[in-house]
Amino acid sequence: MPNSRPLENRTAIVTGASSGIGRAIAEKLGEAGAHVFLAGRNTQAMQESKQNIEKCGGVASIQIGDIRDTAQVQALVDSAVAATGRLDIMVNNAGLEFPGSIMEGDPESWRTMLETNVLGLIVGCQAAVKAMRSCNAQGHIVNISSVSAQRNNSGVYGATKHAVNVISSSLRDELEEDTIRVTNVMPGATSTNFARHFPREFVNKIISLSGMEFEAKEGEHLPPEVLDELQKNAKQLLGNAYDVANAVLYAVTQPIEVNVAEIVVRPPRAMTLAH
Ligand SMILES: NC(=O)c1ccc[n+]([C@@H]2O[C@H](COP(=O)([O-])OP(=O)(O)OC[C@H]3O[C@@H](n4cnc5c(N)ncnc54)[C@H](OP(=O)(O)O)[C@@H]3O)[C@@H](O)[C@H]2O)c1
Repeated sequence: MPNSRPLENRTAIVTGASSGIGRAIAEKLGEAGAHVFLAGRNTQAMQESKQNIEKCGGVASIQIGDIRDTAQVQALVDSAVAATGRLDIMVNNAGLEFPGSIMEGDPESWRTMLETNVLGLIVGCQAAVKAMRSCNAQGHIVNISSVSAQRNNSGVYGATKHAVNVISSSLRDELEEDTIRVTNVMPGATSTNFARHFPREFVNKIISLSGMEFEAKEGEHLPPEVLDELQKNAKQLLGNAYDVANAVLYAVTQPIEVNVAEIVVRPPRAMTLAH
């Protein structure tokens, strides 16, 4: 009979666990038995996930922090190790996109994307590997990239995800002699709050094409029921965050001599937004 709690006695950190893909990954790892540290900025959303994990008999802790602050990333890893004595899985998921052309883009939005999608992720990798080595873990680093890294014309956001792919491959090489594996996950369009900084006309068009009457507002999170309905009604175009989470669970439950190096999880139809 398959083990329903393959991650029992393991410690996992998921950044950006307050929404979308990170939230789904945190819940999956928690259901699979890991003590999950949910890291993010929105306590209420993470509290709900913590309760969901506890309902399945799992253990979860919440750590508030901003991934752009390198000291806070280190503190996140330190507190997971202090509480459980170990670190086995680090999912560097927090990320965001401000779409826009290079000629008309705002340097502050580029800085935010670079500091969140790239700097926060590299510091998360470094801090986690040091912690995994110090407890002799059979560890897994999971970096959430994007299918945007498969195109060369995906703008500044795409450039940050190309960087994630290079960081994942370089770290995998550096860790060949360690018992730590590196998985790079490239999701396609997924029904989450990711489009919160996208042009409203674009988001509202997708919502109305999926048969719903709802007006999204710039910068605001969509209610979970709208995200669910959107995904159910537009399955060809929008993936489900739990499908990405299942892929992550698969990667981190393989034997340590198996490195699942890259995974692309995407809906059947490709959706690209002109950057
Ligand atoms: N959805 C897609 O179509 C898609 C496709 C390919 C790749 N991805 C990647 O998947 C990852 C997760 O995105 P998602 O789709 O789940 O979007 P989401 O629903 O907007 O979730 C993003 C998460 O990252 C967190 N975050 C952003 N900036 C942060 C910061 N400075 N410090 C701490 N947390 C921060 C957000 O927290 P707050 O709520 O506090 O901002 C949120 O929890 C990202 O790396 C994204 O690039 C998404």
